[in-house]
Parts: sequence; C-alpha cells; structure tokens
Amino acid sequence: MLKNLNKKILKPCGKISFAPSILSADFSCFKKSLSLADKCGDWLHVDIMDGHFVPNLSFGPHIVKTISEVSSLPIDAHLMVSYPENFIKPFYEAGAGLITMHYESKSDTLKCLKKIKSLGAQVGLSIKPKTPLAEITKYFKLIDILLIMTVEPGFGGQKFMTNQIPKIQYARKKINESGRKIWLQVDGGINSETAIKAIEAGADSLVMGSAFFSSPNPIKMLKGLRL
Ligand code: DX5
Ligand code: ZN
Repeated sequence: MLKNLNKKILKPCGKISFAPSILSADFSCFKKSLSLADKCGDWLHVDIMDGHFVPNLSFGPHIVKTISEVSSLPIDAHLMVSYPENFIKPFYEAGAGLITMHYESKSDTLKCLKKIKSLGAQVGLSIKPKTPLAEITKYFKLIDILLIMTVEPGFGGQKFMTNQIPKIQYARKKINESGRKIWLQVDGGINSETAIKAIEAGADSLVMGSAFFSSPNPIKMLKGLRL
C-alpha cells in the first residue's frame, strides 16, 4: 500500500520554514537522514538535475516516489533541468506536492507554471544568481513560491553569494506589493549565519543541504533559527 499519493503542501503561515536538501544526505543510511529531516523540517527539498541545465545528475521520479512513501514531509522537486515541461507530471505523480521550475530553462515558463497549477501542485519558480528579478515579477500571480538561488545551481556545499541579498530584499518588496501569499525561499550555502542574513533580507523559507546534514545537532540548529 503506497503512502502519500495525496501530495502534501505547505501554505505560507508567517513563520520561517526550512527545507532540508537531501542532495547532502548520507545515502548509506538514507532512511535515517529522512527521519531526521522529518523531525525538524517543513519541506523535503529534492534537487532534480539532468546533467544539461546543470553539470550534475541526481534523482529521477522513482527515487521521489520511494521517498514519498517514507517521509511525512511535503516534497519540493527543484527541477534543474533544461526541459521541465517533460518532468512536471512524472514528479507530481511520484509524490511531489510542490514543483519548482527554472525561468532559465528551455521550456516556456508560462506554459509550465500553468501545467503545474492544473495538476493541483504548488507552483514554484526559481532564478539563478545572474537573472534579474524584474524578468519574472509578471509570473507572481501564478506562483506559490519564489526560489532565489544564492549559488550557481548544480552542487551542494557551495558558498552563499552575499551579492544576492539586494535581490532577496527586492523580491520581498515586490511580493508584498503583489498582495499575494508567496513563499520567498533561498537556496544555496545556507547555514546558521547565512540563514539569518537571508531572513533579515526578507526570506521566509530556507533550503539547507550540507549545513543541515553535517550539523552535530540539526534539530537544535533549526529550533534556534526559528526563534
Ligand atoms: C544547488 C541545489 C541546492 C543544494 C543546497 O544546486 O539547488 O538545493 O542542495 O545545498 P547547500 O545547502 O549545501 O548549498
Ligand atoms: Zn535546490
């Protein structure tokens, strides 16, 4: 019997949310890593890489399906792929309640966002560090989550790009002006110090990979950051 084929979602609630990124999990004891994320995370961030949009490979729908049967968290599939259009449905059917696509991909952004929405998933849109926010504010009416990359996508364990802070601040301003409830999520190089910088700039959701899975006490770390 499959658990969680009703896709879980997470609505903006005015609190800070955390999404452990399993790219940095210890795969020799993967179930333990998932259970740790379950204990203190709000989402499970699953990086999907196609070796083309980014120079790395990661997980396919089959892995997401297995995870969704084990984890109790809503799953966010962060599609770092050139043609997200082809992968929206497979990842949704595998159990991802939130599908985040990249504006810089080769698929048509509007078409993909509408496709995600039509399936009933939460709609995420992400931009790479060099992409100006102004190019995507027109999509705010359709999205539930805006994901700002603070590293060049492709690998965990990189350094947070502080030059992205003005973009986070500007995104917060534009989200507030839009009057829509959109999560402002930051991904890349988030640890207990950079999380504070991102939150102060206006983020209300943080992806955390290497800092989470290498922490001696991630539960305590996130508890401290939620205060
Ligand atoms: C990078 C991925 C990130 C990554 C974050 O391309 O999108 O989600 O897993 O890892 P850390 O937190 O180690 O930068
Ligand atoms: Zn990611």
